[in-house]
Amino acid sequence: MRLLEPPRLSPPTTTVRRSWLEGERADRAADGGSTELLKRAAADFERFVAERQGVLRLWGVPATVLWYVSGTQYLGELVIRHELTPALARTGGHIGYGIATPWRGRGHGTRILGAGLVECRRLGLSRVLLTCDADNTASRRAILANGGKPDGRVDGEDRFWIAIDRAAPGSGPL
Ligand SMILES: CC(C)(COP(=O)(O)OP(=O)(O)OC[C@H]1O[C@@H](n2cnc3c(N)ncnc32)[C@H](O)[C@@H]1OP(=O)(O)O)[C@@H](O)C(=O)NCCC(=O)NCCS
Repeated sequence: MRLLEPPRLSPPTTTVRRSWLEGERADRAADGGSTELLKRAAADFERFVAERQGVLRLWGVPATVLWYVSGTQYLGELVIRHELTPALARTGGHIGYGIATPWRGRGHGTRILGAGLVECRRLGLSRVLLTCDADNTASRRAILANGGKPDGRVDGEDRFWIAIDRAAPGSGPL
């Protein structure tokens, strides 16, 4: 499917209900994972979205959930953990992200991460930790393309630090 406008990060929004559900269905069909989230979202998407807006408390730290959208098309999600706990400093790091299965392999993973780094700078972070499964080639390549510097492997996860260029131009408010 062609996108009518370049995707951008946005707070979770009800305008992408249909495409979010399609993406989640495709992801679960691909990985065989639990469909609990899908059922909850389908039952009451407004509530599902409201629960994800603003600064949340996840993994014991403040966290922001952002969706990568083009018009009403949902493409993926990026979560920023504003701080690290000792556990997150080992694996997990500051950023989690994913692109819906039908949209993978077209550069969106690399770009959502780049857009996420802009948000990290806005939050005042000067460097961020990312970790990914040692066999997650796509994520490793996306991280390296965004300036990731390898910092060893812990519990089967490769660790990378990305320095946030504080002088680089930011984007406008979300
Ligand atoms: C990781 C993920 C976000 C990448 O998204 P994507 O849209 O496919 O990423 P891109 O298209 O930007 O591809 C990034 C790089 O990986 C390569 N790539 C993409 N899919 C690949 C695959 N299945 N196997 C190997 N390499 C792959 C691309 O060629 C590109 O490399 P290049 O820039 O050197 O050519 C996506 O696979 C995903 O959501 N995975 C599940 C969740 C996840 O693993 N998140 C990361 C947690 S750390």
